[in-house]
Amino acid sequence: MVIYFATSNEHKFKEANEILSAKGISVEHFNFKHNEIRSDSLEEIAMEAVDTTFAQLKKPVFVEDTGLFIDALNGFPGTYSAWALKKIGSDGILKLLKSASNRAATFKTCIAFANGKITKTFLGECKGAIATKKRGKSGFGYDPIFTPKGYKKTFAEDLEIKVKVSHRFAALQKLTEFLKA
Ligand code: IMP
Repeated sequence: MVIYFATSNEHKFKEANEILSAKGISVEHFNFKHNEIRSDSLEEIAMEAVDTTFAQLKKPVFVEDTGLFIDALNGFPGTYSAWALKKIGSDGILKLLKSASNRAATFKTCIAFANGKITKTFLGECKGAIATKKRGKSGFGYDPIFTPKGYKKTFAEDLEIKVKVSHRFAALQKLTEFLKA
């Protein structure tokens, strides 16, 4: 079975390809830049994006939207994570949390899949904490400041752990179960 992953983010595609190919699912990269809608709901953003993408591609396709939800900031940056990274970066997030004793945060991914008959969403989460400084050179986005629960290293220090425990892995796992059923 071949499905397309529509994203302009090479890192996301690489991670998804690694996870899906290990489960026997071939994924093709549809390098598609879509101006996503603004919403507080990852699901709403992903649903709109996959409908627009399917209308263009007309083949089974999924998209995903991810956000970093920080407890001490009442969920900020959440669905505005790309905007926040551009405006204040990981350094800005570290500054906002300078005196915070609660550093808990959750990465959430919503995958939306469409094949012309149905549109379905799959949510994945990874709980963890914001590190006190940036650590590691791998990965992308907020990876240098996020430590998954139960581990000491950030995602950027250990990508092997990331593919096993990440928000993206959890959402792709659900997509895989659905595709295989
Ligand atoms: P989006 O899903 O591309 O809108 O991602 C929102 C923001 O979160 C972007 O700035 C991404 O770089 C960042 N991001 C998405 N996924 C991850 C991840 O797995 N690790 C770290 N940052 C991520």
